[in-house]
Amino acid sequence: MNHSARWAIVTAPTDRGEDPRDRVGGALAALRKRHPDTVFRTAVLGGSGPTITEALDEAAQSGAAEVVIVSAQTVPDRKMDAWFARVVGHWLREQDGTAAPDVRIAGSLTDAPGYTDLLDAAIGGPTTAARTTTAPITSPLWDEVPGFARHVLVCRGPRCSAQGGAETGRAIDEALTERGLGDDDVLITLTGCMFPCSQAPVVAVYPDDTWYAGLTADRVDRFVDEHLVGGRAVEQWRGARRG
Ligand code: FES
Repeated sequence: MNHSARWAIVTAPTDRGEDPRDRVGGALAALRKRHPDTVFRTAVLGGSGPTITEALDEAAQSGAAEVVIVSAQTVPDRKMDAWFARVVGHWLREQDGTAAPDVRIAGSLTDAPGYTDLLDAAIGGPTTAARTTTAPITSPLWDEVPGFARHVLVCRGPRCSAQGGAETGRAIDEALTERGLGDDDVLITLTGCMFPCSQAPVVAVYPDDTWYAGLTADRVDRFVDEHLVGGRAVEQWRGARRG
C-alpha cells in the first residue's frame, strides 16, 4: 500500500486493448524521480489494463488527499475526454459518505503549448530503419479455431470497466484455471461495449446465447460451476432482452 498525499493517474481509452503502461513507462520512471512524493499509476477506461476506478479505489484506500487524472492520449478526442470525466464522476458518486480525495482532471495533452514541439522532436529525432526480419504475423499455432465448447464474452467497455468488469474477467480466468479448464474448453474474450451498459458488468455466453447482467466477481464461482461446467444457465442473473 502506498501512502502519499498526492496521486497522479495516467489514463488511456484502450477500447482496443492498449495499456498506457506501454506508452508512458519511460516518462513515468522519470516523473517518479522528479516528484518522489507523488504516486504515479496507469489505468484504462476500457480494455485489458487496470481500470480508472480501481486506481481511484487504491488511492482512496491509501489515504490520498489529491488525485490528478491525466489522459495519455496524444490524439484529440473530446468524446473520450468526456467519458473519462463520466467514469470519474460515477466513482465519486459511489463514495457516498466516505472521505474521498480531491479528484482533479488535467487538461488535454494536445492543448499543451509544447505539443507541436513534441511531434517535431519525434520526427526530427533518432529513427530506426524498418526491417523485413521482424517476427511474422502468422503462425501454424493460429491456423485453426480452438475446439472450445463455449465462448465467453466479458465486456470491458467503459461502463462495465467502471463497474467491476475487470474484476469479473479476472475472477472468471481464475475460476477456470482452478477447475483445470483452458482455451480448448472455454474461450474468454474481452470485448468493447456490447450495448446493455446499464446491466454492467455484462457477460455473454455462446453458443448458448445467454447474456448475464450484473455478473460481479462474487457471482463468478456459481456462474462457472453451474453454466460453464454444469451446462445450465443461472436464470436469475440473465439480463433483460429486447423481444
Ligand atoms: S460498456 Fe459493457 S455493455 Fe456497454
